[in-house]
Amino acid sequence: MCGIVGIVKRHGKVVRDLINALKKLEYRGYDSAGIAILSDGEIYVTKGVGTIDKVIDPTKDIKDGSVGIGHTRWATHGEVSEENAHPHVSCNREVAVVHNGTLDGFNAIRNQLMNRGHVFSSETDTEVIAHLIEEKLNEIRDPVKAFSRAVYELKGSYAIASIIKGHNLILLARNKSPLVIGIGNGENYCASDVAALLHKTNRFIFLKDGEIALITPDSVDVWSLNDGIMEKVNRRVEIVDWSPQLLDKGNYEYFMLKEIYEQPYILKKLAKSVYYYKRFSDQLLKYSERGGISIVAAGTSYHAGLIGKFLLSKLAGARSEVIIASEFPEWSSHIGKDDVILAISQSGETADVLEAVRIAKSKEAKVLAITNVPGSTLTRLSDENVFIQAGPEVGVAATKTFLAQVAVLHILSSLISQERTLQIKEELLDISDSLESSMRYIDSASRKISSLLMDKEHVFFLGRGINYPTALEGALKLKEISYIHAEGYPAGEYKHGPLALIEENVPSIVLIPIDDKIRKKIIYNIMEICSRGAFAITIQPKDIDVPSDFSLPLDVKSELTSPMLYVVPLQLIAYYTATSLGRNPDKPRNLAKSVTVE
Ligand code: G6P
Repeated sequence: MCGIVGIVKRHGKVVRDLINALKKLEYRGYDSAGIAILSDGEIYVTKGVGTIDKVIDPTKDIKDGSVGIGHTRWATHGEVSEENAHPHVSCNREVAVVHNGTLDGFNAIRNQLMNRGHVFSSETDTEVIAHLIEEKLNEIRDPVKAFSRAVYELKGSYAIASIIKGHNLILLARNKSPLVIGIGNGENYCASDVAALLHKTNRFIFLKDGEIALITPDSVDVWSLNDGIMEKVNRRVEIVDWSPQLLDKGNYEYFMLKEIYEQPYILKKLAKSVYYYKRFSDQLLKYSERGGISIVAAGTSYHAGLIGKFLLSKLAGARSEVIIASEFPEWSSHIGKDDVILAISQSGETADVLEAVRIAKSKEAKVLAITNVPGSTLTRLSDENVFIQAGPEVGVAATKTFLAQVAVLHILSSLISQERTLQIKEELLDISDSLESSMRYIDSASRKISSLLMDKEHVFFLGRGINYPTALEGALKLKEISYIHAEGYPAGEYKHGPLALIEENVPSIVLIPIDDKIRKKIIYNIMEICSRGAFAITIQPKDIDVPSDFSLPLDVKSELTSPMLYVVPLQLIAYYTATSLGRNPDKPRNLAKSVTVE
């Protein structure tokens, strides 16, 4: 994972800007951080273990200058330590690099470099890049040529930013890890994603795999690197219309809470742009008539994908399957040129999703993508893509983007079925109004429920039909941010195993269907667990009588759209359980928002 950033200015200093940009990238990893600055002709590095605020204090005596690079780390090679934190420098301190990705076979390069006298000070794969560039600079003093020769020897995934003593420039390379260039006035930037730079610019150049770039305060040059030969390419400047305010917590204590509260407004926005999705839904229909639809996603997006499968079947009569992205290589032998892959990814950068897409493309399948982040790798790899229009999501646990993905899948299935096109618009507006007016009530009821979970070891989430994936999502939210063991289950399947774990006071959160027939079945399930001492909490349609120890009634109008309502208390229950236990929901331990390693 990791986040990288670089800034080069004609006038002025870069440290404060680097810190601001790095903080926006902390969701990518936050076990260590660092910056390298070129000042008075020397490279100065400040780095250490912990968050950016802990490691870099701009009020202390830190060297500043007009060019610098920075990094926030999520460890892959080498333990979390000051030595392994980025940036890494070459032996003669002429070169500093930051890197996101993993290099294949880096040990072999490292051994060769050590045999040639290089001394390494970390266990990381990244450090080989700095030493390689130093060697190439000894062969040829032109920094771009030396850099490209070093990059040519690298295999694996990388987004690299490097500074070189004596030069007011940053060198960049990208392969399978995200890297964008931001365009300023008398200054230019690079970062792992646009969100890091929105406070500086909304003009971006998106690098492609296999490209290298040189940025100076007044220029950006991009080359593709084919068999070591550099070919100049022209890259269009694209405008990103996200406002920097969306990256501000405002009065909320955490981004997660702010993002949960944004949900009614996102639904409203989506309701107003139903026809933006028409071309995409036409493509989905066209390709699905030829072959099958395989939905591919990870984490929360996978749960949205399961709901998508349900909706495609129910509303559009379309057959589809859902494959967890990391399992795709093993489970996709049947996919061929007549099939379509529907890749769902908030970030558009999840390595497992991108790998699945590359495999599908190699089999000539079509790739349609649903994502949130403009310019992300998935948008470049896919044949068609649409955005879920949720704005940047900072909290590591996905909330508003899940709701937006589900809403977009509703829109697509409704557009395919045609009859429901107008209805879905009304339904989204209705859920948006209902959420907006009941948010405070849902908040306080969820807070009460969280107080019942705080001291528990296990919590179960049960649902049926379209709310089985919602139950999975509720369990994922709780475990990822509160660290309480949680399992989501289809309520009917529960008696085939997990029931053995039920004992006195184990809480089960049950999502009650509006549909009578399914509701009857789930009531039996509740009775089964309660007779074994479980504590049943129901999230349910109002004015319906269901056996439970604590109920949260909501204004649910239809079974099919109920996940968009039910998921909100589940998010808030996870949020309040985590915060009451003193855990930071925006930065859960060991997790990162964008997982760019397989
Ligand atoms: C990580 C995040 C999850 C997210 C998953 C898939 O694990 O912590 O919140 O659901 O990646 O991310 P994507 O960007 O592909 O939707």
